[in-house]
Formats: sequence, structure tokens, C-alpha cells
Amino acid sequence: MQAMQVKHLSMSYEDGKKVLTDINFSVNAGELVSILGPSGCGKTTTLRIIAGLQRQTSGNVAIDEQSIDSVPVFKRNMSMVFQNYALFPHLSVFENVAFGLKQRGIGKTAIRKRVAEILSLTELTDLANHRPHALSGGQQQRVSLARALVVNPTLLLLDEPLSNLDRALRLSLREEIRRLQQKLGITALFVTHDQEESFAISDRVIVMNGGHIEQIASAQTVYAHPATTFVAKFIGFENFFNVTRQVNSDEYLSGEMHLYMAEKTTKPAVRLCIRPENIRFDTSMNTQQNSLNGIICDKTYLGRAYRYVVATDHLGQIKVDSEGATHQLGDAVRLTLPSDKLIALAE
Ligand SMILES: Nc1ncnc2c1ncn2[C@@H]1O[C@H](COP(=O)(O)OP(=O)(O)OP(=O)(O)O)[C@@H](O)[C@H]1O
Ligand SMILES: [Mg+2]
Repeated sequence: MQAMQVKHLSMSYEDGKKVLTDINFSVNAGELVSILGPSGCGKTTTLRIIAGLQRQTSGNVAIDEQSIDSVPVFKRNMSMVFQNYALFPHLSVFENVAFGLKQRGIGKTAIRKRVAEILSLTELTDLANHRPHALSGGQQQRVSLARALVVNPTLLLLDEPLSNLDRALRLSLREEIRRLQQKLGITALFVTHDQEESFAISDRVIVMNGGHIEQIASAQTVYAHPATTFVAKFIGFENFFNVTRQVNSDEYLSGEMHLYMAEKTTKPAVRLCIRPENIRFDTSMNTQQNSLNGIICDKTYLGRAYRYVVATDHLGQIKVDSEGATHQLGDAVRLTLPSDKLIALAE
């Protein structure tokens, strides 16, 4: 098992457009790290540079701290899995999976043994003689995964491998990818724009935006402590309140509203945020910390809850998710923003 490091990577295309700015991260040996970010933020470009399919403008890629910039693609021993499977249509499943081993000049008997092993691990044994066109999308993606794993790659690169599949298949295949990656102890980098997918599959998450990294942390940390406003918005925070002043280590002023935080901090914040599901409707009209009045101005059924939009007297419109269908348009309500659910954002 080997680790991979990316250092000060920057990339501009010929048209002068800068698409990556000072990208720094590492993937530890045996770790699965995902890159999460919206379309066009530079995920595929980062992967292609690591694989050697594209040349960076500056910075470098290293394996176990040794730069591999002068190592050509075919000597990097990295495997890539793409969104569109990219299988050879005229070859059988067996031949597709055997391809990389053949290229490496491995003998027939050894190939047969190794391919059989991987086909069994990926539950494709029964389909060994089928051509790709005779397989479902999910089966085709399992074949590209098998083809990627069979060479025991130094690094497995996956570029939105589940995006073409329906939801049920996405869920089962992501579990399968994770199971195989852990079982085989492979170092992997997984690209996705789907937050749930990245959280479910990875040891650590890199959140990218506009060619730079916003945060690198465990899924739990990203979820509970987004580092920036961009990250918070991307992972489901909806209510953002600009703060005009920090009154105390646990108290901010947003307009005229005092907002109390459970956590004390001296770090400067520009705004606070909170998830819709963490805001409470209060039945008592008592004044307590972080409570304010409002009028229900919109109500939508989301399935798991109702999404209420509440026009408040101090903090503008606030979105609240609540399982109860109790409130109607025009109702006067009182909200509480629990102090342990408010997050301070520095940018
Ligand atoms: N060959 C190219 N020439 C010029 N610009 C390019 C080229 N390839 C990609 N780009 C630009 O680089 C930026 C990053 O593209 P990239 O494909 O890495 O994004 P991505 O995060 O993978 O997006 P998606 O989620 O849509 O796949 C985009 O703005 C894109 O338009
Ligand atoms: Mg892409």
C-alpha cells in the first residue's frame, strides 16, 4: 500500500483560464478519500493530472513523497473508473478484465487465475463470457471496477462512477466499492458531486469549489463543522445570518438580534448558520435565548418533513423543517435556534 501526495498543484488551459489553484492534499495508504464539489470545480482535471493524462502548469504529484512527474501514464500503475464505463465493446467480460494484465506481459495461466479471483470478488463469474452490450449499466460498472482492481493499482481513481445508475444501484454499488477497497487495502480517490455518496464511502472528504479546496476533513467534521459558507450551503445549511459584531466569546449580534452559541470562540466570524431541521417551533411564547417571532409565509411537503418559511421580525426569512403539519400560512409562531446547533463561519 502506498500514499499519494498532491503539492501546490495549479492548472491553466491554453485559453488562459485558471482551473486549479494551489491544490494540496494527500491520500494515506489504504485510505479512500473523496473529492466533493459542483460541476466545473476541477475534479476531473485533478484526477487526470494525478493519472498523468494531463500536465499541470505547476506543482507536483508524488507517491510516498517521491515525485512522479517524469513517470509516463502507463508506468504509474494507476487505474481509473469513469462515469461511462469505457469498456471495450468487442471483448468479453473476461477479456476486458484481463486486458491490463496482458498489457503487462503476464502469462496466460497467471492471468486466468487472477481474473477468476477478481470476477468472483465482484460477483461477475457467471457473466465472464458476455459482451458489455449484453449487461446492465450496474453490471458494466462492476466490470470496469474489476478491470481497475485486477492490476492491483498503486492508486485507484474513480470519476463519478455511479452517476449513470439509478438510486438503488448507486447505493449498493458504492457499498461494494467500499467493501472491495477495504478488503484489498487499496488507496483510492473518489470523485463525486453527491454529498451523501461522498460521506457514505470515504474516510475523508475534500470539498472543492472553483478550482480551490475549501475544506479537508472527515465526513462527520464536514457535516457538523463546515469551514466556509460555500461548504455549509453545499451540505444543506439553509439559514445564514450576517453578524455585525461579536459581543462575547459565545454571543454575536446579527442586526438587533443577539445570538448565543454553545461553543465559545475567539475566532472572527462573518455569519452564523443553522440547518432547517434544527430549528424548533415553540409552543410557549416565553422569551428565551435565541427565540424570535415570525409569520408562516410558505409551506411545502418534502416527504420526511414539511418545509416552512417563516418571515421573522429580526432575522428575515428562516427555513424550518418540521414533521408536524400543524402550522398554516399566516400563523404567528415562535422559533428557537438552539445554541448548540448554530455554526460560526469565518468566510
Ligand atoms: N480542455 C479544456 N480546455 C479548456 N478548459 C477546460 C478543458 N477541460 C476542462 N476545462 C474547464 O476546466 C474547469 C474544470 O473542469 P473539470 O472537468 O475538471 O470539472 P469537474 O469538477 O470534473 O466537473 P463535472 O462535475 O461537470 O465533471 C471547467 O471550467 C472546464 O470548463
Ligand atoms: Mg468531471
